[in-house]
Amino acid sequence: MINFATDFIKKNRIMAGYLVEDTRKVTTHRLIEMKQQGKKIAMLTSYDYTMARIVDGAGVDVILVGDSASNVMAGNTTTLPITLNQMIYHATSVMHGVERALVVCDMPFGSYQVNPTEGVTNAIRIMKESGCDALKLEGGADIIDTVKAILAAGIPVMGHLGLTPQSINKFGTYAVRAKDEAEAEKLVADAHLLEEAGCFAIVLEKIPALLASRVASELHIPIIGIGAGPQVDGQVLVVNDMLGMNKGFSPKFLRRYADLHTVMTDAIGQYVSDVKARTFPDENEQY
Ligand code: KIV
Repeated sequence: MINFATDFIKKNRIMAGYLVEDTRKVTTHRLIEMKQQGKKIAMLTSYDYTMARIVDGAGVDVILVGDSASNVMAGNTTTLPITLNQMIYHATSVMHGVERALVVCDMPFGSYQVNPTEGVTNAIRIMKESGCDALKLEGGADIIDTVKAILAAGIPVMGHLGLTPQSINKFGTYAVRAKDEAEAEKLVADAHLLEEAGCFAIVLEKIPALLASRVASELHIPIIGIGAGPQVDGQVLVVNDMLGMNKGFSPKFLRRYADLHTVMTDAIGQYVSDVKARTFPDENEQY
């Protein structure tokens, strides 16, 4: 038993107290291997250096610099306002904190929908200026020429289907997508198109679990779900939501792993009390 444990720990480096089986830098090829080997992929968002260091150190395989930064970091009600320069700023900050995870940056609304040439120009800017590993684009057949052009420039692309928040004004609601047969079949066809074009993975957001399971079994590339049930190749959540920093957002798919809102409010409240009571700083906290 002791020998087994020693051997196991020798083979697996302990990162921040969590066992990570493979400590090599995660690549797009490694993710496809993980699917082939039946190993689940853990993905979370990050938008800044400090959070990215924690997320990477805890063994997350893929870090998404999501355009959800528009909501989470800037307080916008949708992802539409965030700009290319702002996404590059977030991705650059994240890259400074990451050693192992694959870092994927969202192309923001308006940066790839006009035409493939503009899409490639903006994709190259993100890759050059931030140093991130790959990009994520929302959509299927409607953006396939742009996806192909970005891939042809040597940039790995992750697709995103189902609830695509950049199209919220078209959908009119954040409700579950692809519940009817026509939309479900279109989603399956889009997923195949993205795989055939050369995407290395696809995010499926807020769709029925059965449909997500079908896509994951039909495709060879990893399918990462958010609100898409357990029968996919990996899961993604917004890190601030899963840490419980945001009390006002409680979709059914969200599991809160901590209550940082309460922890942080208590700590800051204690600091305010100490300052007002003149108990901070004390004699050991001064020069
Ligand atoms: O921007 C984001 O955080 C995302 C995830 C919800 C997948 O696209």
